[in-house]
Amino acid sequence: MAVSLPGGTYFLDTICIAPGGIRYSAPKCNKWKIGGHMHAIRTRLPKHFVLEERLERYADAIEVRPQSYAGRWREACHPLREGQDGPHAYQGLWLDLGCGKGGFTADMAKRDPTTLFVGVDFEPVCMAYAAEKAVRRHLHNMVLVPRSADRLSDAFAPGELDGIYLNFPTPFPRRKEAHLRLTHADRLLEYRRLLAPDARLLLKTDSYPLWRFSLDQLDLAGYDVLWQSEDARAERSDDVMSWYERRLSAQGATVYAVEATPQTTPIPACVGQRGSMSLVDYLPADLDAMAATYVPHGMRGTVTNLRNQRLRAATHGQPHADARPARDLRHDIHLPPQGG
Ligand SMILES: C[S@@+](CC[C@H](N)C(=O)[O-])C[C@H]1O[C@@H](n2cnc3c(N)ncnc32)[C@H](O)[C@@H]1O
Repeated sequence: MAVSLPGGTYFLDTICIAPGGIRYSAPKCNKWKIGGHMHAIRTRLPKHFVLEERLERYADAIEVRPQSYAGRWREACHPLREGQDGPHAYQGLWLDLGCGKGGFTADMAKRDPTTLFVGVDFEPVCMAYAAEKAVRRHLHNMVLVPRSADRLSDAFAPGELDGIYLNFPTPFPRRKEAHLRLTHADRLLEYRRLLAPDARLLLKTDSYPLWRFSLDQLDLAGYDVLWQSEDARAERSDDVMSWYERRLSAQGATVYAVEATPQTTPIPACVGQRGSMSLVDYLPADLDAMAATYVPHGMRGTVTNLRNQRLRAATHGQPHADARPARDLRHDIHLPPQGG
């Protein structure tokens, strides 16, 4: 897809585009500007990796003005076929939110050429890797949008999306970070406005706590659960795996999944939270059993600390303030019926 470079300097989410090419918004300090805030680049870079060069080289796959496509993504991104009649629009439009380096987006684009896949991530290095995949593999139906997931509403029109993939989203386990989770009810309400009536949202994660939290949030935000699984690899073995799914499965992770569809009831402006916002409270009671098998990515330090606290409390024969057993929510939260 061709990207038009404007004739001036624009600060567009993460990337600064000037007539001469793409530049850092804050050179030398390893930070980018996202929606008015500075964002540290967290990905470790290979020795000869020059970010702005990469972004420029693969700019054809990066869309820095997504708002100009709102409501017409399928037509605007479809290649023109000279002298041919027939459809000039993709049949479907899916987002891969928090797409990372774009391996999953690229594999899905290859598998289904009639659908447009838009990878969204706020990490510029990931965007560079993802764009490289789209260009090198000639995937015209793959576009990358460097943007934070909480700024989608001007990039897509209401009801424009057929689905959203949330593969292994960053868990942000602490209470004060809960609003950053891609499955927080505030985010889910925003997605609901953009999703078509029969659209799908598909979450996969190695984190039982994040999965449990997300089921609650989906309920709060007005989604119907079509499928939920505590072993998605076993139940849907043909699904394309993301990079994190491959990596964490190789380390022994079970994949938790949920597929949901938005209800057609009016969408409230906001919803009140009713459960805990800390993922610690969604850990299973038996942390030793969890530690012996697999601890979710992003919670290894927390689980080690909790186990140490309990051990210390047991050694001194005193109850510790944080040594309370975590509730096993499998037993005290009503789960929607399996199936679908
Ligand atoms: C654990 S990685 C998963 C990458 C990929 N989906 C996979 O499964 O291999 C999470 C990704 O989400 C991105 N991310 C986290 N919060 C985000 C947000 N609010 N907006 C956009 N991207 C976000 C991170 O930059 C990171 O690339």
